[in-house]
Amino acid sequence: MPEKYVERVLLTKDEIQKRVISLGQQISNDYAGKELLLICVLKGAVVFLSDLMREITVPVFIDFMAVSSYGAATESSGIVRILKDLDCSIDNRHCLIVEDIIDTGLTLLYLKENLLSRKPASLKIVTLLDKPDRRRVDIEPDYCGFRIADEFVVGYGLDFNERYRFLPDVCVLGEK
Ligand code: IMP
Repeated sequence: MPEKYVERVLLTKDEIQKRVISLGQQISNDYAGKELLLICVLKGAVVFLSDLMREITVPVFIDFMAVSSYGAATESSGIVRILKDLDCSIDNRHCLIVEDIIDTGLTLLYLKENLLSRKPASLKIVTLLDKPDRRRVDIEPDYCGFRIADEFVVGYGLDFNERYRFLPDVCVLGEK
């Protein structure tokens, strides 16, 4: 297997911070007068969640789900498994799925359908990153931080094989 390395910075922490602030304002306006449950998809979206929730001015609650990801590969298998379910009920609540990145869309499509069956008052999606060129199913985020090209990225919570999550910038992973 070729060795991976951090090739270059794609989005700096300052660029990300500015965009997260503006997403927070947009979400606060859209949910004015309501309470919002942020459903964070572990583990990649944790950093985004922690920044975003502090930019939202309506009352927010948080809960977490873990689904199977790529493991040591960089391609989605299409098979999604719930590794950790929500602790709370979402019945009749306004819910916003917080994702790190939408690639093929397979994970999110599964999550969306699964959560909709639990009868939330509303269900929307916010993603920090979107790779629209790679989409294999018909799903779009309601809020998106950045649209990026078809490159594998790490940092700001995103990993490759559990590595690089701690990087403050979003960086492109290269191969030696
Ligand atoms: P999808 O089901 O193909 O849309 O994959 C979504 C999930 O794959 C994300 O939540 C990430 O965990 C992972 N993923 C997709 N692209 C990347 C990437 O470029 N870097 C790191 N993780 C990624």
